[in-house]
Amino acid sequence: MAGAAAAGGEGWSSRWAFILAAVGSAVGLGNLVRFPAEAGANGGGAFVIFYIFCVLLIGLPVLLSETLLGRHGQRSAIESVKKVAAESGASQWWSLAAGVGMVAAFLVLTYYSVLAGWVIYFIGVFAGDLGGPSGLFGGALSDYSVEQVQGILPALQADSSTMLLMHAIFMSITIFAVARGVTSGIEKVAVWLMPSFFILFLGITIYGAFTGAFGAALEFLFAFDPSRLLDPNVQLSALGQALFSLSLGSALMITYGAYASRDVNLAKTSAQIASADTSVAIIAGLAIFPITFAALAPEALAAVLAGEEQVQGGLGLLFVSLPVAFQTMPAGGIIGLLFFIMVFFAALTSSVALLEASVSWAVDRFKIARWLATAILGGAAYLIGAWASFSFNSQAEFQPLDFLIFSGQPVFGIIDELTAKIMLPVSALLVAIFVGWVANRQLIDSENGISGGLHRVWLFLVRWLCPLVITAILLFGLFPGLLG
Ligand code: PHE
Repeated sequence: MAGAAAAGGEGWSSRWAFILAAVGSAVGLGNLVRFPAEAGANGGGAFVIFYIFCVLLIGLPVLLSETLLGRHGQRSAIESVKKVAAESGASQWWSLAAGVGMVAAFLVLTYYSVLAGWVIYFIGVFAGDLGGPSGLFGGALSDYSVEQVQGILPALQADSSTMLLMHAIFMSITIFAVARGVTSGIEKVAVWLMPSFFILFLGITIYGAFTGAFGAALEFLFAFDPSRLLDPNVQLSALGQALFSLSLGSALMITYGAYASRDVNLAKTSAQIASADTSVAIIAGLAIFPITFAALAPEALAAVLAGEEQVQGGLGLLFVSLPVAFQTMPAGGIIGLLFFIMVFFAALTSSVALLEASVSWAVDRFKIARWLATAILGGAAYLIGAWASFSFNSQAEFQPLDFLIFSGQPVFGIIDELTAKIMLPVSALLVAIFVGWVANRQLIDSENGISGGLHRVWLFLVRWLCPLVITAILLFGLFPGLLG
């Protein structure tokens, strides 16, 4: 079965390939790094509950909206929305929904590749432990003291040339895969790496459940604190994370939807994508927190669970606490190696998606060769990412936007906050309004693959709940002062 003839005549070779590519784009550093970091920083339970609420009631309906826009449009994201707008007699300006998203995807790629570069570096660190190129990384990990393991990330962050080299390696692999095209590049990466990812993921989760402090992690992630549930900061973080993790509001699902063939049921596929992605995020939390909690002293753990002490939030969780924990655990060296290889697989199937969102548009709009578009856009993302990486050393004090959610953030953090907490929600909001109110109903209903009660629920969510809730969360999250 040939796929759709989107931008350049390419498409997924089967429904299965579409699912793997879409799940591959969704499952990434967002699930394995950003989700545990945000859950840790926002107090666990309340964040997780609100996150699940956002996935079900906002993410899922918007996911179906985005894929159906792409499949109907059969072109790159912006052009697809323009086409649906034209057929509905609506303004071409609605393509801004995809435009904002596409720019966001490009911006996310810039720093995503820096982080994925760290992952490559840690593969090297753990490979050194197994007698790999230990010279490069300074000897076997098992000989390190705890302080030395804790020092690996800060040392890497202080060393711009190594960071830029790792960032370059990761971006080059991404560019290479995207330049090969949808079927022989992006789809191949997903079809090979996603099954490998799931096997590793299963193994590491079982390992974490048996060796780590599983009960404590469960308590941390699901303990319910109603007062935090109403915190606008927690809500904006959870909404941003839900969209980021499902690759929504980034033009991506419109782009990937365009490569899907007519016989794919988009509602069913969307549900499968969302459940796979959400399961990975939650299970990853249940794998990562037990391992790191196991390395904490009992009093420290009790303080964390009582909410008196923050867990190591942010990037330190994955790149500091986890390596320390691995080092003290049975077979920790090899598990650590497999863990970072797994994270690398997840990151690559997402970074190709982040780049494809703008590449498909450049190819479609300017009729330039795919390799050229990939090289230009990937190269530009590399340079911005390189600049952002100085946030960890020479430009840590450069915090140009000292207001709202940006205050105290260097460039790296600004790009993350701007994309996840503003651009993705704005793009998702425009998609919901466009599909719910503006686009021709018959056109939409011929694509969405649902009928009856389910259809009514979906329409209600897209028309009312998504626009109202996204607007409210955006306003109160950005301007907490509005609440008085
Ligand atoms: N969803 C990916 C992740 O969780 C990131 C991503 C966002 C990928 C938007 C593509 C588009 O890591």
